[in-house]
Amino acid sequence: MQLTNLRLRDFRNYEEASLDFPSKITCLVGLNGSGKTNLLDAIHYLSSTRSFLGVPDNQLVRYGATYFSIQGNFSMAHGHKEVACLVQPGIKKVFSHDGKEYEKLSEHVGKYPVVVIAPTDIDLIRDGSELRRKFFDSIISQIDTAYLNRLVTYSKVLKQRNSLLALFAERKFQDLQLLQSYDEQLVMTGVPIAARREQFIREFKSFFHTAYSFVAGGEEGAAVEYQSAVADADYAQVLERSLQRDLALQRTHAGIHRDDFEFKFEHGELKRLGSQGQQKSFLVALKLAQLELLNRYKGFYPILLLDDIMDKLDDVRMKHVLERVSSHQTGQLFITDAAVGRAATLFKQLQSECDIFNVNQGVIRK
Ligand SMILES: Nc1ncnc2c1ncn2[C@@H]1O[C@H](COP(=O)(O)OP(=O)(O)OP(=O)(O)O)[C@@H](O)[C@H]1O
Ligand SMILES: [Mg+2]
Repeated sequence: MQLTNLRLRDFRNYEEASLDFPSKITCLVGLNGSGKTNLLDAIHYLSSTRSFLGVPDNQLVRYGATYFSIQGNFSMAHGHKEVACLVQPGIKKVFSHDGKEYEKLSEHVGKYPVVVIAPTDIDLIRDGSELRRKFFDSIISQIDTAYLNRLVTYSKVLKQRNSLLALFAERKFQDLQLLQSYDEQLVMTGVPIAARREQFIREFKSFFHTAYSFVAGGEEGAAVEYQSAVADADYAQVLERSLQRDLALQRTHAGIHRDDFEFKFEHGELKRLGSQGQQKSFLVALKLAQLELLNRYKGFYPILLLDDIMDKLDDVRMKHVLERVSSHQTGQLFITDAAVGRAATLFKQLQSECDIFNVNQGVIRK
């Protein structure tokens, strides 16, 4: 898979841009704040229908504009494909494939996969469980559309149940039967979600171990563990046990929306005990594992978006990683750098051809 052309309109600081990417490696060079990360985010958005920075749609529209659009051409093993989206926040968000609009956005997710390595990855370790769930959910969703649809249903029902709990408190009445009908729906979607997460992590682990030894030069007991209060329990019973608490605090306390994924290395919990370098190695290994797993499922490599990693070459064996991902067997690579010449020199050393684009206040020149 290769993204051969990208057109933007009113996306972030880009009023209009049309770019061709003939090479497998594209370096985006420019000063801080010029729009390098924004361009990677546009590629991510086109692929996954959302920003990798977690920025909501209304903040992606260029200041003063009312909508944005992104269009990309992909060269695939089975021919050329065009993906386009037009987003007018709060009003419409349409994605189309070769000119045909999708009925559901979930149909698009996973067709043109991307993997991002960015400074914000550190939040995966430092933040609460939500980001980790989102990370793994997004990978599973790319290989299993039924899973994604279940997640969407689950979060709708969860929202309704929480609203009902709030209503009970406000009106000082309780209709436990009505609440139970929501519980049944939560169980019906939650049980297969938990099972899928469990199964996925088992498979992911082997990719992760390989990636971690590649990045860190040894296994050091690094692992990802799925933690869930519902996975191996009677889901309905767990819900029932938290009923009084739910009623009192007007929120659903038990369920797959509280699951977590634990990151461990040889000395225990990575968040508390890992050094900065160990944490970075772990994150890069997570992403490489994601890359390899998606390759296994899709039969081709996802596009790799590397944001601001040049400064970190020495910390983790990043040069080693770059060597690997810029080799001919792997897919397309976009890399940003604020320092002119650094990326080009590195790829020259690696004997990989790369195209250099200069980004300056939302304008890109080759
Ligand atoms: N909705 C928007 N409309 C217009 N400009 C925006 C919008 N959102 C962000 N920007 C601008 O985009 C610029 C940031 O771009 P970006 O993060 O891509 O820079 P960068 O080249 O990656 O910089 P760095 O080297 O610091 O990472 C900022 O100047 C910001 O004001
Ligand atoms: Mg940036």
